[in-house]
Amino acid sequence: MENVILKQDLSEAILHGIYVSNMAYEIGKELGLEDDVLYELAIAGLLHDIGKLKLASEDERAESDNLVIEQLRYVRMHSKLSYEILKDKDYSDFILKSILYHHENYDGSGYPENLMGEDIPFGARILRVCDVFIALTSDRAYRKAFDTKTAISLMVDEVKNFDMKVFLAFLNVVNEIDIEEVIKNRELYTDKKGN
Ligand SMILES: [Fe+2]
Repeated sequence: MENVILKQDLSEAILHGIYVSNMAYEIGKELGLEDDVLYELAIAGLLHDIGKLKLASEDERAESDNLVIEQLRYVRMHSKLSYEILKDKDYSDFILKSILYHHENYDGSGYPENLMGEDIPFGARILRVCDVFIALTSDRAYRKAFDTKTAISLMVDEVKNFDMKVFLAFLNVVNEIDIEEVIKNRELYTDKKGN
């Protein structure tokens, strides 16, 4: 059975981290955060999905009839796993909490703890927006990347998931950066891979 959920090669995972990191930094700057917080946000962005790499290798050993269900369950564990991998490695509390809670939704529907609103650490609220946008505008094994406008309109439909203050800063950032240039760079990279 083809693994469509976790099929993401290492280079894609690293690129995802870099894009999320850059965007988190820009949103933080837009929100007027101090340089040292921006630096920590950038690190959290880079490492937030590191648990997925571990999941992918465990998944290769999985032989369940309900593989897709298993995968969904495991996918929901990845933010906790990222946290577990990093927690004893001298990262700050800000970085660790941003990573642990990057899938919490503002309305309380996220995971791992169904945190709500301001109870979700601020860094995690920033990563949430970046992670969704970068994922939507990237190719996946089961779909092509959405263009920026479509991605934003999909996010507006799900705006209950986001901190509105962060979401508005994100919209400003997306308006300011040259999205066409970013997409062109991605296409160059994809061409090089021969996909
Ligand atoms: Fe994630």
